Amino acid sequence: MKKILIADDEKNMRWILGKALKDEGFSIVEAADGQEAVELFIDTEPDMLVLDYRMPDMDGMEVLKRIKTINQNVPVIMITAHGSTDAAVEAMKLGAIDYISKPFDMEELKITIKKVLNIEELNNTIDYLKTRVIEAYDSRIIGSSKKMQEVFQLIDKVADTPATILITGESGTGKELVANAIHNKSTRKDKPYIKVNCGAIPEALLESELFGYEKGAFTGAQNRKVGRFDRAQGGTLFLDEIGDLPLHLQVKILRVLQEREFERVGGTEVIKANVRIISATNRDLEKMVQEGAFREDLLYRLKIIPIQIPALRDRKEDIPQLVDYFINKFAREMSKETIIMDEDALDILTHYDFPGNIRELENIIERLVILTIDRKITVSILPKEIVKGAFSKRDNFRLPSEGISLEEVEESFVRQALELAKGNQTQAARLLGISRHALIYRMEKFKI
Ligand SMILES: Nc1ncnc2c1ncn2[C@@H]1O[C@H](COP(=O)(O)OP(=O)(O)OP(=O)(O)O)[C@@H](O)[C@H]1O
Ligand SMILES: [Mg+2]
Repeated sequence: MKKILIADDEKNMRWILGKALKDEGFSIVEAADGQEAVELFIDTEPDMLVLDYRMPDMDGMEVLKRIKTINQNVPVIMITAHGSTDAAVEAMKLGAIDYISKPFDMEELKITIKKVLNIEELNNTIDYLKTRVIEAYDSRIIGSSKKMQEVFQLIDKVADTPATILITGESGTGKELVANAIHNKSTRKDKPYIKVNCGAIPEALLESELFGYEKGAFTGAQNRKVGRFDRAQGGTLFLDEIGDLPLHLQVKILRVLQEREFERVGGTEVIKANVRIISATNRDLEKMVQEGAFREDLLYRLKIIPIQIPALRDRKEDIPQLVDYFINKFAREMSKETIIMDEDALDILTHYDFPGNIRELENIIERLVILTIDRKITVSILPKEIVKGAFSKRDNFRLPSEGISLEEVEESFVRQALELAKGNQTQAARLLGISRHALIYRMEKFKI
């Protein structure tokens, strides 16, 4: 039921308005002056306000200003005095969605209210659709490598089952993306999808975050708090960084998985949990079990279906496609024209190990898209560590069994660096990790 706050200093007016709108099925909150209107606005969170412009002390315009600083999305209809167009214009400028002048016909007001609420609903739908579109775009998982294809097949197979899933993989491999995909492909996709980062919430707060608490559970618990398990009812709960869960909470999560029920902190009511659990970690839970830091029984409950996401260095075939995808993504975000990466630069990227996996690649590309000149990404703007790291990985960097002359290697690399940098000495020196001075010294030595 939509709640409307009516603020008018005339008791009769409030009564007539209130009755008419109650008959239309709205719930009504009444304020007798501006101050009370602001207070009730905060306390009762109405869906709409009908404000009389003329009130003693704080008038409708002042109330409008204040509530717009509290929540600018709640629509306000201003009731202005007969013939005062100025007030109407001012109210609209301050953010009122419509106005109506006294004396008005009740039908007129009802129609205005319904029109406004319809606009509200449309706006909400648009916001909702916008986030869905962004989510859908952001949740594309790139990967044509055999290893990722296997992951995709597994996702398709298990998404629409109630099975508990444990996603493992190094930092930045896309665990959260996979969790999102599973929820979105399940029949629960229109139900809540609640995430908890077990590592990011202070240990002392984590239990009440997860399970909520009852009023009076401890000093300061003035109201009941609904926990994330409650909020996830009917949907999916994603327990991220599950390896960071302290032992005493591991017991409680185990209970939810086994009994499908929980209690709020300080509560006695047993609540049924209809929640699908997906968890993720970059830690080695098996090892933590051996060290006594993770419960073995919980691990087995969590990993009914284990999904292991391979590190990027173990699926380098995916790098070119990911590079393309991120270049396009950032170019579009920054409203830049088409950008391409030249072959040498791509070659260096595919020889780099990416300890931070896809997140690292994504950050690198973002930086490159900003730095690029002439819409082309070349070796000269790649981060130095990457160029170095890639060189030390290349096979032709191995010492041949018959040995090699260090002088020749040095000369060859100085030449290659100059070539890559198209003769620019500062850039060539950067590629070799030496000063420009040291480069010039070597160029003279090798008569380049
Ligand atoms: N296959 C992929 N295709 C496109 N983008 C990806 C892919 N994998 C990861 N990303 C992007 O890389 C970033 C890191 O992914 P995500 O947060 O899912 O990783 P994670 O494994 O949860 O990392 P962490 O362990 O650090 O929490 C995100 O911006 C994500 O969108
Ligand atoms: Mg993550």
